[in-house]
Amino acid sequence: MKLTINGTTHELDVPKDLPVLWVLRDVLGLTGTKFGCGMALCGACTVHVDGQATRSCVTPVGSLEGRTLTTIEGLAPVEHPHPCQRAWVEKSVPQCGYCQSGQVMQAAALLATTPRPTDDDITAAMSGNLCRCGTYPRIRAAIHRAAELLAAPAPAKETP
Ligand code: FES
Ligand code: FES
Repeated sequence: MKLTINGTTHELDVPKDLPVLWVLRDVLGLTGTKFGCGMALCGACTVHVDGQATRSCVTPVGSLEGRTLTTIEGLAPVEHPHPCQRAWVEKSVPQCGYCQSGQVMQAAALLATTPRPTDDDITAAMSGNLCRCGTYPRIRAAIHRAAELLAAPAPAKETP
């Protein structure tokens, strides 16, 4: 089967019922997406499918043919990080870091549909993403900061 991930199409010889998390990590080496519970209960494995935050641990790879899959590695180019990635750094969000790629992917999906989220919006969108280190206050602050960055005009181009 063919699967397009982060803009690259891969030809895969895997069972169609294999959760895509294992394809990402074990077949393609995209280890930014983490395994936590394997039961759609923690959010560590969150990716985007057609822009929607999706738990890759319970998503059969065969269900993704013809759809657009994005992982943390493909969220934004390294030289132009996503506003969430910039805000996460500014607010020093991660502690151990294990849950954070899932948190960023969930937050990025929220901001794509709700560019100025309220605290209630954030609570509703992020409640399925667990953090054993308790970084929740910094995650909330970083989402508000990312919303500010999204709303800010693009910096003027430097003239040579
Ligand atoms: S590993 Fe997928 S939700 Fe926990
Ligand atoms: S930063 Fe450690 S689990 Fe979230």
